[in-house]
Amino acid sequence: MILAIYGSPRRKGNTARLLDRAVEGALDAGAKVEKVVLRDLTMSPCLEIYGCKKTGRCVIKDDFETIYDQLMACSGLMLASPIFFYSVSATTKILMDRCQSLWVRKYWIDKVPYGEWTPKRKGLFIAVGATKGKRLFEGTLLTVRYFFDVLDAELWKTLLYRGLDFEGDVLKHPEYLREAHEAGKELVEALKAQT
Ligand SMILES: Cc1cc2nc3c(=O)[nH]c(=O)nc-3n(C[C@H](O)[C@H](O)[C@H](O)COP(=O)(O)O)c2cc1C
Repeated sequence: MILAIYGSPRRKGNTARLLDRAVEGALDAGAKVEKVVLRDLTMSPCLEIYGCKKTGRCVIKDDFETIYDQLMACSGLMLASPIFFYSVSATTKILMDRCQSLWVRKYWIDKVPYGEWTPKRKGLFIAVGATKGKRLFEGTLLTVRYFFDVLDAELWKTLLYRGLDFEGDVLKHPEYLREAHEAGKELVEALKAQT
C-alpha cells in the first residue's frame, strides 16, 4: 500500500494537484493507495510528555493513532507540502513531531545504532514554494530526510518546484504534473523491483 499525505491547507492547491497526479500514476501502475488529508484531521502537536517511552506508541488519543497504523502498513509513501517559512506546513510539522514516538521506538526501545538501518519503505516528497531562491528547499529537505529516517523510509525522490504561488498556478506547468504522474508510476515499479 502507498500512503499519500496531503500537507497543504488548500484542497486544490499546487501540492495537492501534484500529489493527485502522483497518486494517479501509482494507481495506473496497479498500486493500492490510501489518502490522508492532514487538514481534515484532529491532531494535537507533540506534548513532549514522552508517554511513548514504554511502547513506542504515542499516548495522545486522536487521529494520529490511525495514521500511525497506516504509516506502519505502507511500503511506499508520498508526502506533499507547501513551503511555509522555509519549512513544511504546520499540519505536516505536527505529523512529523508526533512521529517522535517512532524515533523513541527506533532509537531508545529497539536501540538501532544511529545510521545503521536498511530502508523498509520508499518515499516521494513533493514541495512547492512561491519564490525562486537557490536555498528555498534546504531547510525542508533536512527536516524531511530525518522524518523519513524514523519511518524507515528512503528519501527515494523529491519533486521541488519554485515560483508557484496562487492556487492552480501549477496548472500552467503541465510538465510538472506529468513529472508527478511519472514519479507515482516509478515509485510502484521501484517497490515491485525490491520485493
Ligand atoms: C504561511 C505561508 C508561508 C509561506 N512561506 C513561504 C516561504 O517561506 N517561501 C516561499 O517561497 N513561499 C512561501 N509561501 C508561499 C507558498 O509556498 C505557495 O503559495 C505555494 O504555492 C502553496 O502551495 P499549496 O497551493 O500547495 O498550498 C508561504 C505561504 C504561506 C501561506
